[in-house]
Amino acid sequence: MNIAVLGAKIIGSTLARKWTQARHNVMFGVRSVDNPETQALARALNATVETVANAITFGEVIVFAIPGQAMGETIQAHAAALNGKIVIDAANRMGGGAMNSAADFAAHAPAAQVYRAFNSLGWENFENPVFGNLQADLFYCGPAGAGQDKVEALIRAVGLRPMCVGDLRQVGLVDAIGSLWFALAFGQGIGRHLAFKVLTRQA
Ligand SMILES: NC(=O)c1ccc[n+]([C@@H]2O[C@H](COP(=O)([O-])OP(=O)(O)OC[C@H]3O[C@@H](n4cnc5c(N)ncnc54)[C@H](OP(=O)(O)O)[C@@H]3O)[C@@H](O)[C@H]2O)c1
Repeated sequence: MNIAVLGAKIIGSTLARKWTQARHNVMFGVRSVDNPETQALARALNATVETVANAITFGEVIVFAIPGQAMGETIQAHAAALNGKIVIDAANRMGGGAMNSAADFAAHAPAAQVYRAFNSLGWENFENPVFGNLQADLFYCGPAGAGQDKVEALIRAVGLRPMCVGDLRQVGLVDAIGSLWFALAFGQGIGRHLAFKVLTRQA
């Protein structure tokens, strides 16, 4: 799969590492293409670095791993190119209001297939999603269909079990999982190595 990862810091690099290990093609989309740190990261991962615009053109899946406060302007600036793409919104808009950017995608790139995923756990749990012999689940939401198969493949490639909670109308529920993670990891002092698992019993 050709994946554009917008943002090359801790979330972008952690996800990109897993995906290049799984033989997907990753292009980072960044503001400073010549940044030596980003260039070195890309070389180490066998990925490439381009402008945000070029990365969006390249990717069939576009992963937003940039600060929440940069989401509005970035979506507006690349709205036309995002239409028709599979988009994964991993960015959290902190400081009040919705954590996700579903409203911005709907307003500016209504033909994008938007999924909310990779927002609800700290990056350490993407790097190592296995606890003893238990594989953590990743709650996500977005439209059913071919896009969902690709998003689930990318969640599995990170080592998590995909746990769909419905279409994008469930985005608040996925964000609430992120709030639960913060409340437990920091509010209750459990720490960042914390993830979730759905348990079921065969009838
Ligand atoms: N850290 C976690 O554990 C975690 C977990 C889940 C979700 N998230 C979410 O994932 C996102 C990324 O978090 P992060 O911790 O990896 O790093 P971050 O510091 O939030 O993001 C930094 C990356 O975004 C780029 N960036 C900043 N402003 C930009 C803009 N206006 N347009 C395009 N790119 C821009 C930066 O590139 P430049 O070099 O150009 O500045 C850098 O590569 C955040 O929204 C965060 O809430 C984080």
